[in-house]
Amino acid sequence: MQLRTRIHPALATPSDLAPEAAEAIADAINPLVADAFALYLKTKNYHWHMSGSHYRDYHLLLDEHADAIFAMTDVLAERVRKLGATTVHSIGEISRLQRVRDDDREFVTPLDMLGDLMEENKAFAARQRAAHRVCDEHEDVATASLLENFIDETERRTWFLYETVQGAERSR
Ligand SMILES: [Fe+2]
Repeated sequence: MQLRTRIHPALATPSDLAPEAAEAIADAINPLVADAFALYLKTKNYHWHMSGSHYRDYHLLLDEHADAIFAMTDVLAERVRKLGATTVHSIGEISRLQRVRDDDREFVTPLDMLGDLMEENKAFAARQRAAHRVCDEHEDVATASLLENFIDETERRTWFLYETVQGAERSR
């Protein structure tokens, strides 16, 4: 669900970008902030509930991924504030904006966890690319540049998860 961002007069950081541009960019970035929080928690969920013979490797891999995903949240949220728009306020707002699917199952097999995260990261990169197009339209090169690095990091996670799943399937 997309919530239209409004610029609050008391929080309108000065910017040479038009208010409409700032709102459009915030509308593109805030759901990514929500996605990053949701994907961080999903990755931690799997990190905490990992099991099986490759426990240590998978547990540590997901911790590295979770740290990188969490690091995105502050950078993206502050980018929105630099433009004068407002960003996410609460877990409730995150749940309304997130496109990442929660997984509350009691038990998930290690390969299902890794495969699920691979798909989530792949889809996350596509949504970051879509937000990048909005930044391009408004010549917001700074947000675009941050997204370029985050897309690379997200694709790196997809690659590692893909190879880990492939390796595990081959050795079965
Ligand atoms: Fe941990």
